[in-house]
Amino acid sequence: MTIAVCPGSFDPITLGHVDVVRRARSMFDEVVVGVATNSGKSALLDVDARVELARTALAGLDGVRVERVAGLLADFLRVNGANAVVKGLRGGADFDAELPMALMNRHLAGVETVFVVGDPALAHIASSLVKDVARYGGDIDDLVPPGVADAVRAAVGRKDGR
Ligand code: PNS
Repeated sequence: MTIAVCPGSFDPITLGHVDVVRRARSMFDEVVVGVATNSGKSALLDVDARVELARTALAGLDGVRVERVAGLLADFLRVNGANAVVKGLRGGADFDAELPMALMNRHLAGVETVFVVGDPALAHIASSLVKDVARYGGDIDDLVPPGVADAVRAAVGRKDGR
């Protein structure tokens, strides 16, 4: 039984995240999506909302579950018996951000990070951009799984997407 952890802030989960989770599941028997806190970012949605949205978005995927990462990802990896961390790369900037975390997680937990290249058709999607587009009234419905857009619009104080 091979287990991968897909960690992230998921603030909110996007279609790009779902694509990465699917790719991880194609390589591992079980995928645990870990909704964590990034101390370098201020989250729009609270962690319970992020977990619930991710659970709904991924409910149809067999062998995938969503859990909150309460503290250090390295501890979560050990508790869940993870064989690998899987993260998606959209470009070089993602790699630059991910490399130090991959090295630190291997140092702390002895777990390797596997990078997958996502669908290029989704490469423009980032949670930060989704929130920014929503804040200024742009359409985010085709960037996120069903139900997520309404939650983001409510959180940024936009009722109608305009
Ligand atoms: O989606 P993100 O914000 O790029 O994901 C980063 C995240 C949340 C996975 C990272 O900040 C994290 O692992 N946070 C949990 C606390 C922790 O373990 N920090 C040290 C990371 S090496």
